[in-house]
This record gives sequence, structure tokens and C-alpha cells, in this order.
Amino acid sequence: MKITLIGTGYVGLVSGTCFADFGHDVTCFDKDHGKIESLEKGIIPIYEPGLEQLVAQNRERGRLRFTTDLAEALEGSEAIFIAVGTPSRRGDGHADLTFVYEATRELAPMLKKPVVVVTKSTVPVGTGDEIARILKEEGAPEGTSVASNPEFMREGAAIADFKHPDRILIGAEDERARDVLKEIYRPLFLNRAPMLFTSRRTAELTKYAANAFLATKISFINEMADLCEAVGADVQDVARGIGLDNRIGPKFLHAGPGFGGSCFPKDTLALLRTAEEAGVVNRIVTSVVEVNETRKNAMVDRVAKALGGSVEGKRVAVLGLTFKPNTDDMRDAPSIPLVKALVEQGAQVAAFDPVGMDEARKLLPDGVHYGDSAVEIVKDADALVIVTEWDEFRALDLARIKDSMRGNALIDLRNIYETQEAERAGLAYYPVGR
Ligand code: UDX
Repeated sequence: MKITLIGTGYVGLVSGTCFADFGHDVTCFDKDHGKIESLEKGIIPIYEPGLEQLVAQNRERGRLRFTTDLAEALEGSEAIFIAVGTPSRRGDGHADLTFVYEATRELAPMLKKPVVVVTKSTVPVGTGDEIARILKEEGAPEGTSVASNPEFMREGAAIADFKHPDRILIGAEDERARDVLKEIYRPLFLNRAPMLFTSRRTAELTKYAANAFLATKISFINEMADLCEAVGADVQDVARGIGLDNRIGPKFLHAGPGFGGSCFPKDTLALLRTAEEAGVVNRIVTSVVEVNETRKNAMVDRVAKALGGSVEGKRVAVLGLTFKPNTDDMRDAPSIPLVKALVEQGAQVAAFDPVGMDEARKLLPDGVHYGDSAVEIVKDADALVIVTEWDEFRALDLARIKDSMRGNALIDLRNIYETQEAERAGLAYYPVGR
């Protein structure tokens, strides 16, 4: 089937490439000439394991093209996926739909036959209705339908998540839209990926509910971690103890420095705005957001405590800057408030991240020293803080690290070491919730 993707950001590029890999004929459109030029040269603007190779393979086979010409991108297409950004609107936290509506207005008059317009971007309830209204107003052919098909993939594991989804969610108001989407996802359907058909509004809300629920699990376990520290219990054992109950499940129960990234912070806020507008009070999600904000800002206090009460004049090595491993994404990363507070409170910060350094330089305060490795940044440090659990940080030579440090505090915000091994190396170990 001929498919168009509008927007070659994270979701658009991964989805388009995977659709092409299923055998569909895919054209990805973006207004950003620089981005398209890069993609045509095989340069991928984001860091996502496996993506570069998959893009190259599908371009070679002629199934994947990039263009800045919308008319060309739409030619012969049966389904048009809108995958543009929906960032948090400054001031009120609502999802900013400017790009979604702009794209709709532009494409409507170019359509030559009825198609299915699908939102892949995370969009608030009712966006599909507004897209349908705009399409009509701008003269899209009679019979053009609008569907919602939210994406649940995680950064760093996006291709695997796309190809082996827990479920495919399709919110549509008519049979044709359902049939077209069924056909597009047929390769996954044959692999027995559950396909869920709902109304458009339900699908739109389900995406927010999923993210809010996952965020709730994280804030919940983070609060349990605080309680564990206060009463002398171990949050990892608590997580295992509750997670083995099928009704709870073991995933998303890792205590840490709070959730970040391009989805949870933005989507929880947007869900609250939707609830507010609908006159509904959503106390749980409100608390989840508050708990997370407080937590991210409190990480500096852990460092101060480990250093005897203050970070002033201390040298702190920060390991891992991106919001999670296997991505260069720094959006809402817990490292940002931590490093800012450390610098404000008079610490000298040296930092390292395997792929996030370019992004980090744009967002972290001046004066941070960036090193080339964990070993380099710990030299003469009073404390080492692990903020992101990249695999390459999981087997550090702790004895060697201790030897090159001036102090001996290891603050492990991701619980990737055991107390005994850290102590054996002569480090004072400060995990989370243990
Ligand atoms: C998330 C959803 O998982 C995905 O389904 C949705 O489509 C987009 O948002 P992503 O933001 O890429 O994906 O990463 P995810 O792995 O979910 O982690 C989000 C944040 O939560 C990270 O900062 C991570 O460190 C944190 N987290 C996750 C925890 O602190 N503890 C956990 O147990 C799990």
C-alpha cells in the first residue's frame, strides 16, 4: 500500500521506516529541508539503535523515500499518517497542536481522492474531530476519513517495540478506515499482535491513560523508595515482591531519579488539562506529576547529604545525562535539574554521557566540564553520581574509580551496583531506596 508520513521526527521516521520494512511503499515528508537532505544522504537525525541500517535497506529496495514536496508525498497515497510534534504549550501545559492543524490545512486541498488521515502523534481527545472539520472546510474529497492510531514505542527500543507491539490500537469511525489500517498492520496481525478497535476519542484517550498509568507506577515506587530508606527496607525487593503478583506486574517499578523524556512529563500535564477542560478532577495524575517534580529537584540533596551537608566547593562527577539509556534525548532529563542545582550551589561538575553530550551542552549550565569517559571525569572527584543506567556503566572498575577520586561517595540513582561490591572497592555507597 502507498503510505505517506508527515513529519520525520522520532515517531514519523521510525513508523515510516518500519511500514516500508513491512513491504509498503512509503514516502516521508518534512518541511525541514536540512532534515530531508540529511536523510537522503543516509544521515539519521536521532540516535536510535538499528534505525540507520533499516532506513538504508529500505531506501535501497526503493520502498522508502524522503521529500519536502507535499504534493509528491501525497501522490497515490491511501493513508496519510500525521506524526508531527505535539510539544507542551508554554504556560498551560496543553499539547500544542499548531503543527497538526497546519499539516491538515496544507494537505486537504491537495487530496485527489478520499484517503484515511491517521494521527500517530499523541493528541488530546477531540483532535480527530477537529482534523475532520478542517479537512471538510479546506475541501478534502468527500469520504476522507480520520482515524487515531497512537504509538506506544519506547526510545532506544523503538524498532523492536514497533514490530512486536503489545497491541495495536485503532480508533476509527468508519469501516473503510478500519480496513485500511488493518491492511497496513497485516504483517503484525499475522504474528498475532492483538489489534484493538475503538472509537476515535477512546483511542486518543487510551494513549494518555497508558502513559499516565506507567508514570503512576514510577512515582509510586519512588515514594516507596523514600519510605524504604526511612524504615530500613529494600525497594528492589519490595518491587519484586509486589511485581510477581500478576495483577501488578514487574515492569516500571524501578526506583530512580524520577521520569523524564519526551512523553511522560508532557502527556501527564496534557491529560490534566483535558480533565480540567472536561470539568473532571484527576487527583492521582496531579500527584504523580507533583511527586516527580519534587523528586527530580531533590536529587541534589542526596549528593549534598553524601558529602556532609553541602556541595559547595566539591567536585562532582555526573555519569549519564540523557533521560534514559540508548538515546541522545535530553528532554526533561533528571540530569538537568541536578546539574543546574549542583552548579548553583557551588559544585564543580564534570559530566559524561556515551551519546548525549551534544544535546547536553545545549541544555546544561556553563562551566560544566565534559569528559570522554567515566574514568576521566572521576579524577579528583569527591563524589560520583550515576544518573542514567547506560550498559557501559554497569561494570565499572570500582577500585580503579575509587583510586582516582579525591573522595569516596558513589551515589547510584539507578541502583546498578550492590552495596557490598562498592564497599569492597572502598566507596561509600548511596543507592536509592535500599
Ligand atoms: C514512554 C512509553 O514507555 C512509551 O510506551 C510511549 O510511547 C512513550 O513514552 P519513553 O519515554 O521512550 O517511552 O521511555 P520509557 O522507557 O518508558 O522511560 C520513561 C522514563 O521513565 C525514563 O526517564 C525512565 O528512566 C523512567 N523509568 C522507567 C523509571 O524511572 N523507572 C521505571 O521503572 C521505568
